[in-house]
Amino acid sequence: MPGRPYLQIPGPTLVPERIVRAMAQPIIDHRGPRFAALVEACLAGLKRVFQTRSGEIVLYPGSGTGAWEAAIVNTLSPGDRVLACVNGHFSTGFARTAEAYGVDVERLEVPYGEGVPADRLESRLRQDAAHDLAAVLVVHNETSTGVTSNVAAVRAALDGAGHPALLLVDTVSSLASIDFRFDAWGVDVALTGPQKGLMLPPGLAILAVSARALAASEKARCPRAYWDWRPVLERNRRGEFPYTPATVLLFGLAEALQMLEEEGLENVFRRHARLAEACRRAVRGLGLEILSRNPAEHSNTLTAVVMPEGFDSDELIRRAYATLQLSLGVGLGAVKGRVFRIGHLGSLNELDLLGGLAGVELALRDLGVPVRLGAGLAAAEAYLLASSGPASP
Ligand SMILES: Cc1ncc(COP(=O)(O)O)c(C=O)c1O
Repeated sequence: MPGRPYLQIPGPTLVPERIVRAMAQPIIDHRGPRFAALVEACLAGLKRVFQTRSGEIVLYPGSGTGAWEAAIVNTLSPGDRVLACVNGHFSTGFARTAEAYGVDVERLEVPYGEGVPADRLESRLRQDAAHDLAAVLVVHNETSTGVTSNVAAVRAALDGAGHPALLLVDTVSSLASIDFRFDAWGVDVALTGPQKGLMLPPGLAILAVSARALAASEKARCPRAYWDWRPVLERNRRGEFPYTPATVLLFGLAEALQMLEEEGLENVFRRHARLAEACRRAVRGLGLEILSRNPAEHSNTLTAVVMPEGFDSDELIRRAYATLQLSLGVGLGAVKGRVFRIGHLGSLNELDLLGGLAGVELALRDLGVPVRLGAGLAAAEAYLLASSGPASP
């Protein structure tokens, strides 16, 4: 098919040409001086993106799922109790990873479409007067529902209850797209992957780790070998890794960090917020509903759209790809077949978004959903024109 494919899923995202070119170079010696400089640039740039001065960065070849595992095995022991805030498919996965290591997981269940309720969290933490709960697990941006939880409010809940539990936060679909402040929000472990806001191909597990989490890792007794972050931190100080690293992805990561620096994190967040609002207006313009209930929690990286009664989102997604080469995100977990997800993150501009939205309109009509062609695009375009300035590159 001529033209470019529309990868409008909430990650992996399209990899910009600049990053592709940065990765297209001969592999270097991962114990040599050029590599040490590359590691230094990646770690320093990631600290800026996590907004931390005091945290340490740990990188592995892997994925977000591996990063869950690294966060758990390095901070906890079998039999520890943790409170997992579960409001979708990925927060369920994070909780299950802890369970797989014998951690005793209590779930704070939240309906799909809602964020972590800080008031409920605080009252549960207040009941735990003996401080049995060793950690609180939160997904900043629940990619299955398009809901962003307020991590600052989660920190305030911990502080309000005077509870010392570690705060472990999944930022897989928020980092480098939605404001996330590791230091200011007192996060102990933040974990992510490279294939979303960082605009890279998949293949890394990336963590930011606080001094408290480092101290906890000295006592943690979960079995760990590959995910043990201590040898990684130790060898990183010399610009090396305790294994053969994903050199090509690190070339790309250094370029991605440079691009984020050039645009400025604040502008990156603003661009995502503006394009996300345009997408939501398009969805409403088509007369469809968004799964996220609270406007303050609408995600700026993806929108989960509820299918009208009687239509299957899996069928919509199949047709969108077959007829238009447009990839949309499937409904996951409890909302399988009932929602489709539009990704609007990473290296994305206005026309990229509008192209994807045009595809959504066409695919809906092709399936027989009675939407008015152009109604979504008109709403998005009107908003883009009315909101300040064009999106930066
Ligand atoms: C919020 C969140 N956490 C974890 C993961 C798992 O990451 P990976 O698929 O890279 O293992 C994803 C994947 O999309 C995600 O969106």
